[in-house]
Amino acid sequence: MYTSKQIIDTFLNFFKANGHTQIKNSSIVPENDPTLLFINAGMAPIKKCFTGEEQPISKRMCNVQTCIRTNDIESVGDRHHLTSFNMLGSWSIGDYFKEDAIKYAFTLLTEGFKIPKERLYATVFSGDETLGLPADEESIGYWEKVGIDPTHIIKLPFEDNFWRMGDGEGPCGPCTEVFYDTGDSHGESYEKSGNFDTKKRYLEIWNAGVFMEYYQNLDKTYSKLKFKSVDTGSGLERLLLTLNGLESVYDTEIFVDIMNYLRENCKNPNERSLRIICEHIRTSVIILNAKVEPSNVKAGYILRRLMRRALRHLRTIEADDTMFEVIAEKTIDNMNATGLAPDWNFTKSELIEKFKAEQDKFAKMLSQGLKVFKEYIENKENIIDGYLKEELVFKLYDTFGFPFEITQELAEEQGVKVSEQKFEALLEHHKEESRGANTAVFKSGLADHDPNTIKLHTATHLLHSALKRVLGYDVHQMGSNITPERLRFDFNFPRKMTDEEIKAVEDDVNSVIAKGVDVIREEMTPEQAKNSGAIGLFDNKYGDTVSVYTIGNFSKEICSGPHVHNTSELGHFKIKKEESSSAGIRRIKAVLTD
Ligand code: ALA
Repeated sequence: MYTSKQIIDTFLNFFKANGHTQIKNSSIVPENDPTLLFINAGMAPIKKCFTGEEQPISKRMCNVQTCIRTNDIESVGDRHHLTSFNMLGSWSIGDYFKEDAIKYAFTLLTEGFKIPKERLYATVFSGDETLGLPADEESIGYWEKVGIDPTHIIKLPFEDNFWRMGDGEGPCGPCTEVFYDTGDSHGESYEKSGNFDTKKRYLEIWNAGVFMEYYQNLDKTYSKLKFKSVDTGSGLERLLLTLNGLESVYDTEIFVDIMNYLRENCKNPNERSLRIICEHIRTSVIILNAKVEPSNVKAGYILRRLMRRALRHLRTIEADDTMFEVIAEKTIDNMNATGLAPDWNFTKSELIEKFKAEQDKFAKMLSQGLKVFKEYIENKENIIDGYLKEELVFKLYDTFGFPFEITQELAEEQGVKVSEQKFEALLEHHKEESRGANTAVFKSGLADHDPNTIKLHTATHLLHSALKRVLGYDVHQMGSNITPERLRFDFNFPRKMTDEEIKAVEDDVNSVIAKGVDVIREEMTPEQAKNSGAIGLFDNKYGDTVSVYTIGNFSKEICSGPHVHNTSELGHFKIKKEESSSAGIRRIKAVLTD
């Protein structure tokens, strides 16, 4: 049996022996990236290295990075999908490219991990004419060259084999992924069925190369990057499963004892629920340890959803609610025993206390909500064309704290559907309820580069500093969204602003506009930026430069721009609305007029 530690050591030693420098595991909460709620890939903390905006510490790097990915949450419970995992990553930044990346992957898998090459399959990008992206024929040649059977090389389209961080802008490229054949007991072979089944029989074990040579622009066009790089990522948990010939990740050392314990300590041990509980509790430990608290917005809401879903499945398996804490404790112990523990920010009992607090908050509502749900579903009038009325889904969310997917799952178990779209539309209508709750990422960058958007961006900096002057220096930005029509700015403040305060903020901004102050951009180290009093998150991981925008004595912020050159370009600043965004967070909408 391979242990986690052996796999990690084999991986890192291989890449280090080939000139790669090991870099640290970053916090799962991005330090300086408002476009991401959690680090979702090893490359996320170093994404600016691919565009040249940051200098890497080495052209060849590797590490083990804890990642959180909740887009696969519905698949949790199958053989291999998880919401948190350890990514073994390796990178070439403007150094070697496809041929060496494929050679490294093949050598490590067949020699380091001694996988017979007959078990390996490689997928490559089939190209996309409408997007102007060519097929990756070169990689096919390189796989054949190292010795992969040509019938084991499969061309797949954009959705499968063109990797990007998400829908926003950023470095991206065609990728080649390695799949492990787990054998006949898991379905027909690819040759026989003609279908490459990546759900059961063939499991992806390594994205052995995103060949970063493009930049995804906001309008979904692709430009060439200045230089070519390689970004790879392999899930440790999947290697543990495949290399040890196990049935699922729940049979690996990461889960097996905890699963067995839970199975023995419940009345109705349904396998899927057991898996969801153990998996979600593990991710919750990781997120809580990163100092995120369960809440109704952003990262805190992802955490809350995971915790509440685990609690509801504890009811399904008829286990005592206190099992929530017990499993959390066992998970923490197991992380320590397997060497997969994060750097602990809390003691074990502090973490367990956090589980208990959320359990206390939800337990009663869960019991009542489950009862109410049963009444809803038993009344035929509540089901229209096979869908549970969205008002009721909303009621469960609003009154009983049921995240959407809990209701969805409960309904599906009764053969009834729920419409996420309609639920979200209702949420929108209830502005006072936690607004951003279901929209994953709160964008704080610029969505476009329209001249008005740029003006409003500069106005946002002035607003931010004006709020500090008027309301107090502990006021800070919690989110921002700018369109050509208006700016939206969220900040921490416990109460409604008075009319006088709103006026004072407007006057402050307008006085800086009237003064016609130059907007100056400077490059400096994060340290210098911090010492200069610039507002921002300080991320000096690579000792790199950051850009700082200064507007006279009025505003100084770390920001990637763009901005106007002089505040006189802005016209007149007017606050249209000041309202609650969620608990302790206020939202301002403002415009610029001529
Ligand atoms: N960044 C690539 C991935 O996550 C390696 O698949």
